[in-house]
Amino acid sequence: MRVLILGGDGYLGWPTALHLSKQGHDVAVVDNYLRRNLCREENVEALYKTPNLHERAAIWKTHTDKTIDITIGDLCDWDVVEDVFREYQPECIIHYAEQPSAPYSMLNRKASTLTLKNNIEVTANTIFAVKEFCPDAHLIKLGTMGEYGTPNIDIEEGWLDIQHNGRKQKFLYPRAAGSLYHTTKVMDTDLLWFYVRTWGLKVTDLMQGPVYGMFTNETLIDTQLQPFFNYDEMFGTVINRFLVQAVAGYPLTVYGKGGQTRGYLNIVDTLQCVQLSLENPADSGELRIMNQFTETFSVNELAEMVKKSASNLGIEVKIKPVKNPRKELEEHYYNPKHSAFNELGLRPTLLDTNVLEKIMKTILCHREEINKDIIFSKRASWC
Ligand SMILES: NC(=O)c1ccc[n+]([C@@H]2O[C@H](COP(=O)([O-])OP(=O)(O)OC[C@H]3O[C@@H](n4cnc5c(N)ncnc54)[C@H](O)[C@@H]3O)[C@@H](O)[C@H]2O)c1
Repeated sequence: MRVLILGGDGYLGWPTALHLSKQGHDVAVVDNYLRRNLCREENVEALYKTPNLHERAAIWKTHTDKTIDITIGDLCDWDVVEDVFREYQPECIIHYAEQPSAPYSMLNRKASTLTLKNNIEVTANTIFAVKEFCPDAHLIKLGTMGEYGTPNIDIEEGWLDIQHNGRKQKFLYPRAAGSLYHTTKVMDTDLLWFYVRTWGLKVTDLMQGPVYGMFTNETLIDTQLQPFFNYDEMFGTVINRFLVQAVAGYPLTVYGKGGQTRGYLNIVDTLQCVQLSLENPADSGELRIMNQFTETFSVNELAEMVKKSASNLGIEVKIKPVKNPRKELEEHYYNPKHSAFNELGLRPTLLDTNVLEKIMKTILCHREEINKDIIFSKRASWC
């Protein structure tokens, strides 16, 4: 299949490109290095340096003789979008290309506006391009479990049957995002649903939880193929952050009471879920929504697990609750469904101390490069 990956330089986009290329698909990626540039601007660089997209594609070709086509360009720019879609005629589009950090989106007016404009515009341009150049293509879009918030009832997979005054209808499950970033994802889902109804597009919207890890079958071929790995308070996700904190001898920063519970998944399961979505496309006029995570943990549980893994490696770790910079419930009901991917055949890689220790051993090789000042600088606050 001709697969176009939007945001293919990213933490998830690059490993997805490798994985689908290995499976024999023709893969093209587009990226404008927004993520790398924002990290540089905010002085929150990743743990280790990663080659640019052209260099990464050349390394991949050396190992596998497979080509990944690269376009460097801004998907907010219609000329870029038009050129790529016209030339490539994708059969499947995987849309990762957004500003994905909740704390960054809450940093200041400039960061909020960038997030809002970038995320909505890339999604809108993608929808228009599919309609114009490849109306039969399947669009797989990365949403987030954060779209639902933490409601006091079970979270369904995207939709909810409502009974009202004796009549019934299925509606999008109510959304209650906890940051501007998450709100842009809600807006994306609304846009997609509108154009699915209007133009009969085929769309899969994946409500993904926070991802952890750096190893996939393909990134293990060469360390230069590893995705970048952020550990700062803006672009690092909690498990990756805690692992670096443990190695750096920095107390694990649990926000508030630490009862915040979310659904997590290993990066290899992101790849599996995206591949399963690609192999089982949505129908025309269908917005299929699946919850993409494999297990739930509270922040306290994660901190304890990281502490134990570190201890197995002879590293003593402290856990330190800090004032929560976010506005969120610190103790709450959380019961999200996630059976759709299991029914499609997902074989999860679950979190345990072995998985954590393996990642921590790689982080240990970069111990000297860790910048403790960016771990918790208290710049990103919801107030
Ligand atoms: N990583 C997670 O834990 C996680 C969890 C839930 C959802 N998601 C979603 O998955 C997607 C990928 O996440 P990620 O962690 O790989 O983020 P990332 O920032 O590493 O990747 C996104 C990529 O898109 C690119 N991009 C952004 N705007 C662009 C534009 N206008 N034109 C071209 N390229 C652009 C960025 O430069 C970056 O390389 C995002 O949409 C994110 O919201 C991620």
